[in-house]
Amino acid sequence: MAIYLDHAATTPLRGEVLDAMLPYLKEGFGNPSSSHSYGRVARAALDDAHDGVAARLNAQAREIVFTSGGTEANNLALKGGAWAGKARGHRIVSTAVEHHAVGHTLRYLEKFGFEVVELPVDRYGRVDPDQIDAAITDKTILVSVMLANNEVGTIQPVTEIGRRVRAHKDVLFHVDAVQAAPYVEIDVEALSVDLLSLAAHKFEGPKGIGALYVRHGTHMLAQQQGGTQERYRRAGTENVPGAVGFATAYELSCAERPETARRLRRQRDRLKTAVLGVDGTELTGHPRERLPGLLSIVVRDADGSAIAMSLDLEGIACSVGSACTTGSTEVSHVLTAMGYPEEEARGALRLSLGRTTTDAEVETACDVVPRVVASMRVGALAVAADPLGQGVGV
Ligand SMILES: Cc1ncc(COP(=O)(O)O)c(C=O)c1O
Repeated sequence: MAIYLDHAATTPLRGEVLDAMLPYLKEGFGNPSSSHSYGRVARAALDDAHDGVAARLNAQAREIVFTSGGTEANNLALKGGAWAGKARGHRIVSTAVEHHAVGHTLRYLEKFGFEVVELPVDRYGRVDPDQIDAAITDKTILVSVMLANNEVGTIQPVTEIGRRVRAHKDVLFHVDAVQAAPYVEIDVEALSVDLLSLAAHKFEGPKGIGALYVRHGTHMLAQQQGGTQERYRRAGTENVPGAVGFATAYELSCAERPETARRLRRQRDRLKTAVLGVDGTELTGHPRERLPGLLSIVVRDADGSAIAMSLDLEGIACSVGSACTTGSTEVSHVLTAMGYPEEEARGALRLSLGRTTTDAEVETACDVVPRVVASMRVGALAVAADPLGQGVGV
């Protein structure tokens, strides 16, 4: 199998997590809403999952709403928060580098009369907390800022932003922590958040299960109508094995976080030195305030998708940016917002390491990636210098 350097897209399911889930896919299959013994077994597992996740976030069990993933958690937070605040105002403040699960949801809300202000970021992808403060008016009901960017790994100053938002009465603060969760300690009190999104498949949990933290007392309208599940905030029979998998994976990830982050930083820096040794490459995102395992670059005079495809043939699985934009010809809105011209943004490449990445894999990548990047660049330069193929040397 190829060396997997795309952990920002998704991670493998951890063995211990599968083991914890299996009983609820087998004999513990009951519906938590049933009052008989099968239901009670499932209910107990679901309650434990709420407890476990809440404890790791410094939250209360009743503040955790399990969803189908990060996208749904973001949709629920933004639509639920916006509709609930409609009587007070219509202005939502966010940034130009959010994941589409936030950005496209905000576009949708604009169709219903909400005004969305997308703040610019600096060259490293960071938003200025002063600008957030300045953008909040008496019509503002919601601020949404991601904790860490999925394409370039930049960590936003969310603690400082939370402090600013908190000073404005009745403005909800939502944080998309989907990408940050395995690597950044999350304490909902320290961050002063009202709403916070997570997805299990980013920390070796199963796909199709996420969670939204909803601060007790937050007015948020449910976006699915039906049953009373998740305290009326998310109707539908609960995904009990998923919730158990989420909680198990998050508990393991949190317990090992300092050690994992230290190792990933070392491995990533080794790979960074090797890759940035190639002419025409540049690190994207913040040099220090970034996710420990994420190396994002632009390669001048080259096409990131072509490089990723060549790397795939050479046994390295990575991506150009977010998994969701792969396959589209659209250039990254994140790099564009960071001030990269379109032709440079087309040379984007993302290598993301994870807890299971070995030193031996990193060494192989240190040989293969620079060689492939250099060859693709030379190829691109050769075409540029000799468009008719008449043999001009490079
Ligand atoms: C920052 C961020 N938010 C939201 C999502 C969407 O999460 P999911 O794929 O679980 O729906 C992703 C997925 O890559 C992400 O990186």
